[in-house]
Amino acid sequence: MGIIDQIDLNNTPKHIAIIMDGNGRWAQQQGEERLFGHNIGVESVREALKAAQEMNVQYLTLYAFSTENWERPQEEVDGLMDLLVHTISSEVEELDQSNVVISTIGHTAGLPQGCQEELAAAYEQTKTNTGVNLILALNYSAQWEIVEAAKKIAIDVSNGTLDLDDISKETISDNLTTKGIPDPELLIRTSGEHRVSNFLLWQIAYSELHFTEVLWPDFKKENLYTAVLDYQSRERRFGMVSAQLEK
Ligand code: IPE
Ligand code: IPE
Ligand code: MG
Repeated sequence: MGIIDQIDLNNTPKHIAIIMDGNGRWAQQQGEERLFGHNIGVESVREALKAAQEMNVQYLTLYAFSTENWERPQEEVDGLMDLLVHTISSEVEELDQSNVVISTIGHTAGLPQGCQEELAAAYEQTKTNTGVNLILALNYSAQWEIVEAAKKIAIDVSNGTLDLDDISKETISDNLTTKGIPDPELLIRTSGEHRVSNFLLWQIAYSELHFTEVLWPDFKKENLYTAVLDYQSRERRFGMVSAQLEK
C-alpha cells in the first residue's frame, strides 16, 4: 500500500502553503552554484502540484521570494527573477491544460516589469479555470501585507466609509493580498528550518505546521502525501477540548 492509499481523501486540506527552502544548500552539496538548486526546485513545484491535484487540494500557496530576499547577492536575485519569467512562460500552457489557476500574493508591483507582465498574462489565461489555485508568494512578507492593510483601513476610517467599531477580523482579512482565499489548514517548511520567515502570519493562526528535513529540490509527491498524513493525525481543537470534538 502506497502512502497515498492511507490518506482520507475526504479530509484533505483545502489549502496547503509551503515554504520551499533549501535550494542553495542542496546545490552546494552537489558542488554547484546556488542557482542550480533553484532551477532543480522547479521540478519539485511540479511534484507538489501533481500531488495536490491528486488529493483534491484547492489552493497551493508557494513562498517563492520574500521581501527580505532582495538582500541576497545581486546575481542570485537576477537569476531568480529570470527563472520566474522563463518558468511561467514555458509552463503556462500545460498548467492551463490541467485546469490550474495561476495567481500571486505579495507586492508584485515591486517586481521587474517583465515578471509582472508574465504573471499578469498567466493569470489572464488561467483565471476561469476550475482546478487547483496555484498561488505564488512573490515579493511577499506578512508584515508588509499587514502594514498595507492597516493603511487601507485607516484611510477608510478617516474618509468615513468605515466605522471604527465595525473593524473586525474580516476587515483585516479582506485587506490582505490573500483576500478571498481560505486560510491554509497546513503549512509545510522544508530543509529542517523551524521558522516562519515572515510568511502568512495572520493566515496561519490555526494552521497545522509540518517541518521536514528534505531540501526543496528533493521534494517529491510522496513528501506532500506524508505531510497530509501527518496533518490527518492531528486533533484540531481550536481552543476547545477533545470531548467537544467527538460530537
Ligand atoms: C529557498 O531556498 C528558495 C528561496 C528563498 C528563493 P534557499 O535559496 O533559501 O536555500 P537555502 O536555505 O539557502 O539552502
Ligand atoms: C524563506 O526562505 C523565503 C522563501 C522560501 C521564499 P529564506 O531562506 O529566505 O528564509 P530564512 O532567511 O532562512 O529565514
Ligand atoms: Mg533558505
